Amino acid sequence: MNQKKTVMSGVRPTGLPHLGNWAGAFKNWVELQKDYRCYYSIVDWHALTSEYQNTKNIKQDIGSVLLDMLAVGIDPEKSTVFLQSEIKEIAELFLLFGMFTPLGWLERVPTFKEQQKELKDKDINTIGFLGYPLLQTIDIIIVKANVVPVGEDQVYHLELAREIVRRFNNLYGQYFPEPIELLTPIPKLPGLDGRKMSKSYDNAIYLSDSAEAVEKKIRPMVTDTRRKRRTDPGVPDDCPVFDFHKSFSSEEEKKEIVAGCTSASIGCIDCKKILIKNMNNVLDPFRERRKKYENMNAADILEPGTRKVKAVAKQTLEEVRELMKI
Ligand code: TRP
Ligand code: SF4
Repeated sequence: MNQKKTVMSGVRPTGLPHLGNWAGAFKNWVELQKDYRCYYSIVDWHALTSEYQNTKNIKQDIGSVLLDMLAVGIDPEKSTVFLQSEIKEIAELFLLFGMFTPLGWLERVPTFKEQQKELKDKDINTIGFLGYPLLQTIDIIIVKANVVPVGEDQVYHLELAREIVRRFNNLYGQYFPEPIELLTPIPKLPGLDGRKMSKSYDNAIYLSDSAEAVEKKIRPMVTDTRRKRRTDPGVPDDCPVFDFHKSFSSEEEKKEIVAGCTSASIGCIDCKKILIKNMNNVLDPFRERRKKYENMNAADILEPGTRKVKAVAKQTLEEVRELMKI
């Protein structure tokens, strides 16, 4: 009997994926493939909600996100990988749900006001941006997902999704399952300069970086400022290099580094060399797998997944129309 639970998650195609995206999402997505029926969506409509004025890179970004998803081990034979905008049923279900989703519920989503303040160079006082969490809800429920792997920042969106589902179920009959979040424990993975890893800070290590590029980025990293000279001891917890070690190095190596750094018996160059080696050990299999897909057409890779989701989405819409009597 095939009683696997359904997992659904999405990624916005807004630039080259980096190690932060892997540690915070993809790594977990790969693991979930073993035990769940997984749907992974490249949510290009969601990218539009804030980037509608700047759409020239979106096709290219879809391609690089897809390639990196496959490179890290999301297997299109095991998981259903697809492009959101190919599934027009999502738009129809979004419209139907717009009829009974109270404006107030969307207006009080914390990210709505925060983002408007933060992204003040963009006019995101739009229906599309307000509707972001509803669109996310539709992504999840159109495949009747039970479990949604997301980061801490998405918890409110999942609470809202459950409220919206309950509203539908009360109005038209118990139909959709209430999705629950599966929080990804995110190790602190800062960027090269100690701030959050982000392409806009230009401090990221990309999943598609070559071994040489990784070395070039790690070597000049600023370390604990106490270590002005080789003989000055340092404090690993005040060093962004050590934050990387926490995610990439073994317990034994970390112990040696703590001992060596605090007693000034290892230098920062040696410490960085260990990191470069370990980071490349993680990235090497990605590089190998990427070769297999590199020359393939994104549309061809996405075709089987798109076909599968479309069938599921069509079925959902038929049943919803019947329940809503339209
Ligand atoms: N809002 C999510 C993010 O910013 C992306 C997303 C869109 C998503 N639809 C989804 C995540 C459905 C999980 C499920 O990361
Ligand atoms: Fe950072 Fe390593 Fe240098 Fe210590 S030895 S300051 S942990 S780079």
